[in-house]
Amino acid sequence: MIRSVITGTGSALPRNCVTNADLAERVDTSDEWIVERTGIRQRYIAQEDETTSSLATDAARSALEAAGVDASEIGLIILATATPDHTFPATATQVQAALGCGGGVAFDVQAVCSGFLYALATADSLLRTGMATKALVIGSETFSRILDWEDRTTCVLFGDGAGAVVVEAQDVAEDGPGILSSRLHADGQHKDMLYVDGGPSTTGTVGHLRMRGREVFRHAVVNLAEVLREVLVDAGRDAGDIDWVVPHQANARILDATARKLGLPAEKVVVTVDRHANTSAASVPLALDTAVRDGRIKRGDLVMFEAMGGGFTWGASLVRM
Ligand code: ACO
Repeated sequence: MIRSVITGTGSALPRNCVTNADLAERVDTSDEWIVERTGIRQRYIAQEDETTSSLATDAARSALEAAGVDASEIGLIILATATPDHTFPATATQVQAALGCGGGVAFDVQAVCSGFLYALATADSLLRTGMATKALVIGSETFSRILDWEDRTTCVLFGDGAGAVVVEAQDVAEDGPGILSSRLHADGQHKDMLYVDGGPSTTGTVGHLRMRGREVFRHAVVNLAEVLREVLVDAGRDAGDIDWVVPHQANARILDATARKLGLPAEKVVVTVDRHANTSAASVPLALDTAVRDGRIKRGDLVMFEAMGGGFTWGASLVRM
């Protein structure tokens, strides 16, 4: 059977690491408050020469190298971002040009923090219909550019970065590797809980991120537990079969609460929010690459990806590595 198989992972972070203590010099906050409420200790913030496309290109190069795939073989690039370099063209096309792999399909997906899940499921569909045989799926963000640095309730939560995977259509056995099941959801009723107060068609400005944190927290835990169960049922698996969960890294307390609801031990959850903060669409592939490179996630492992973000949008994918 033809499945979409993840054959390489990569990631990239900006040079500049900003600790909670650094932030406390700019806004009225403290390391203690941030660690206790979120688990975040530091984040990376892009400097002027570091953009969503430059971070994405670095992450993509590292994923290509890990997969042993040449950029010229890539026929599809899907880049998830809410912070594109430009309103258009799509940032994916800029990555395509930087990698020198013209001729294929390249477009952006916008589902905020769930963007990587949306991009991965879309790539899976396109690969299985024969649109391409090798794809790059990237999550890349420079959220620092849409933060209100005067608003302590939001600016401490986010960071910049990128993660990428090479996905290849392969003929595999039933128990072989590949994406086993994906489920995506959206509910546009909750826009005001998490949004950016600008845009080309409304204010003509880029705008700043606004959030009602408590409500987002509540919805995230309920929606994530539901979609995880949905994917497990579709794949005919139990929570106990999962080797690793690679969740969107919004907040350590959301990760704990979701794992508890599923009865999953905390040791099976990959956590990078302490080092990267919330990097939106980049967080799942960044965490995946971290756990692949430090040797935790190995070939053959059953891995669950999950995310929830603005919209609301949410989704999950179960993957045999
Ligand atoms: N430093 C110090 N004090 C702060 C800070 C800060 N950075 N931010 C808020 N406070 C204060 C508030 O002003 C408030 O003070 P008050 O009681 O005097 O009014 C107090 O801390 C409590 O504020 P709450 O907002 O009620 O704090 P809460 O316990 O809900 O924690 C948080 C806030 C961390 C945002 C939490 O609601 C949360 O994690 N929500 C999830 C949101 C999230 O992760 N969003 C990411 C994007 S969506 C996604 O990726 C899924």
